[in-house]
Amino acid sequence: MIVCICNNVFDREIRQAVNAGVQSMAELRTNLDVGTCCGKCHSCAKTLLRE
Ligand code: FES
Repeated sequence: MIVCICNNVFDREIRQAVNAGVQSMAELRTNLDVGTCCGKCHSCAKTLLRE
């Protein structure tokens, strides 16, 4: 499932990043560019981060 349409980031990429040690939205932004454009993916990405 695509999470961030602006930057073409999928849920599996977010899960992989979390498994690799990413713990915050700031780190996700730095690593995958999630939420750096329109910001609509922010809540979905945050939910994945918490899982
Ligand atoms: S959908 Fe992620 S920044 Fe727009």
